[in-house]
Amino acid sequence: PGHQNHHQAGPSTPPSSPPTQSLSVQRQLYERDFPLYKQPVEVGNFSLDSERRFFNDARQLRYYMEPEKSCPNFDLRDGYRGRFVKRDDRVKEKLDHILRWILANRSKLQSKDTAASSSPCALGVDIVTWRGHLTKLLTTPYETREGWLLAVTRMGGTLYISEVETEAARRDRENRTERHEEMMYWGYKFEQYTCADDARSLPDPGGVVNTNEAFCTVVQTRLAEHRLLFSGEVDCRDKDPKAPSPPACYIEMKTSLEISTPKQRSNFHRFKLLKWWAQSFLPGVPRIVAGFRDHDGVVVSVETYHISKISQLIKNETNCWKPTVCMNFCCEFLSFVKSVVTEDNPRVVHLFSWDPHRDVTYSIHRDSQYSFLPDWYVREMTS
Ligand code: A3P
Ligand code: MG
Ligand code: MG
Repeated sequence: PGHQNHHQAGPSTPPSSPPTQSLSVQRQLYERDFPLYKQPVEVGNFSLDSERRFFNDARQLRYYMEPEKSCPNFDLRDGYRGRFVKRDDRVKEKLDHILRWILANRSKLQSKDTAASSSPCALGVDIVTWRGHLTKLLTTPYETREGWLLAVTRMGGTLYISEVETEAARRDRENRTERHEEMMYWGYKFEQYTCADDARSLPDPGGVVNTNEAFCTVVQTRLAEHRLLFSGEVDCRDKDPKAPSPPACYIEMKTSLEISTPKQRSNFHRFKLLKWWAQSFLPGVPRIVAGFRDHDGVVVSVETYHISKISQLIKNETNCWKPTVCMNFCCEFLSFVKSVVTEDNPRVVHLFSWDPHRDVTYSIHRDSQYSFLPDWYVREMTS
């Protein structure tokens, strides 16, 4: 309120007026009815192997094996020195794996939506991105520490959204402590203790943890008027062959410090469950298996969280996050992006920028370091 060029929550701007220059992130603007979010449908999947090579199949999908005991004593430090191959996080893959998946599955995609709708958009979707980028959008109204940069390009009527590492994130990455580096391994080690390569085998805690390996689901859904296609990494699935079809059979694995005080419980609800909820709600992954560990990386208990029950779980917290605020903000951001990014050109990037306690703003870049759609993709899509 009181700001002239503000893109406010509420009825959208008529198409004739010029695009607004910024978007407010204030929570109270987004406290309204939960927007339509269609049940996400898995339209495909892909795998990345130990050398980060792309395969258009589910070869890296793993199977959850419930631990024998509720207090399993997994040592998450085991193997950090000697049985760990870490992905090189200086390499920025941008949307490349998703684009590869799109080219390999184009026929499946286009036959779906475009025939029915009169939309001029070639892929039949408005937005292509990573689930992780959408997670950041969902949590933005509650984020007080880390800002983000999102590069957006319109091509063939579809908006492609790809994250750019902020200066602050780069500094943090380059200055991680040895302790922090090791703790980042613990989450993957927990997956190794609890996941097997196929439904009839057992986990192999003696093997190598290689964080290049990934299984990714590709889902299609709709947030209000926005048709979304995004991909996200999936940790494992229910091993029961009679389990519901993807994404309902998928399970997200998490680790967290054991909760021993009311203050810790409250912080867990207010901060960690927000991130956990946003990440899994988006692709329709229904449950999280959490390993609670001590300061030495020993898992002392394992608990399951059902995504659909998390909003009930947090209702007693004062000043807590609300799913509807997350979804309405994301929806409004996508509308803002659509109104701003009108030039259909793979060489143009609108860079959307947000810092805590600020509005979302943007800058425009032509043939710059920010261009992210590779020639092999542009050529194939425009021929
Ligand atoms: P935890 O989530 O158990 O900490 P994911 O849970 O998304 O499948 O990611 C697997 C693991 O990767 C995480 O396990 C954590 O160890 C590491 N990880 C994921 N995102 C990270 C981030 N932004 N910073 C540091 N580590 C991260
Ligand atoms: Mg994962
Ligand atoms: Mg996980």
